[in-house]
Amino acid sequence: MRVDRFLSNLPRFNRKQVRLLLVERRVAVDGVAVSDPHHEVREFSRVSVDDEVLQAGKPARYFMLHKPRGCVSATSDPQHPTVLDLLDEPDKGDLHIAGRLDFNTTGLMLITNDGQWSRRLTQPQTKLPKVYLVETEQAIGPEYATTFAEGIYFAFEDLTTHPAELELLGPRTARLSIIEGRYHQVKRMFGHFDNKVIGLHRERMGSLVLDATLAPGQYRALTDDEIRQV
Ligand code: URA
Repeated sequence: MRVDRFLSNLPRFNRKQVRLLLVERRVAVDGVAVSDPHHEVREFSRVSVDDEVLQAGKPARYFMLHKPRGCVSATSDPQHPTVLDLLDEPDKGDLHIAGRLDFNTTGLMLITNDGQWSRRLTQPQTKLPKVYLVETEQAIGPEYATTFAEGIYFAFEDLTTHPAELELLGPRTARLSIIEGRYHQVKRMFGHFDNKVIGLHRERMGSLVLDATLAPGQYRALTDDEIRQV
């Protein structure tokens, strides 16, 4: 939210007072005086006027987890362990998953309390490539790459998938890069050829690569550099 709107939403300031406070540089966001009314205030920002703190802010948190098989990409589940159960962190209720994976899919999972950051990561407009290692039941034919590059019609959503890149690694293994995240997208793309996906692992989301030192079920905080890459 813009800082001028944030301040005038408080019962104590009207719009004119807010304009003055900003011009007089009495407002600070994260310790830096601001005069631009458009300056962005987030739930993580610390906002003060003179030396009085109006919003304490809270730390933004970002984790990468190596999702193991057999756990649900949800914050709670009555039957199965969830990815959040794997995190030993306080206030887990604030956290959410940026880009879900199926029950038996493994690999890179990003978890955060920053909704703006996770939206950037997952919305199709960002065109962020998600890269998967795929193992199939039947051989992968040479025609798959052309069809995936052209897009596949999904009748349920009445849409054609964006061009996807397929790199054959072996007779039944491939690396697939897609920019959307439709429901069961990879399985449905191979399903077009009646070829069942029997192993699926996400290696990368944009420039964020699963840390090879993380065993399935392990996680770590993202570095500042990784957070900025999104
Ligand atoms: N596509 C799928 O079919 N499953 C996943 O878990 C991720 C992408």
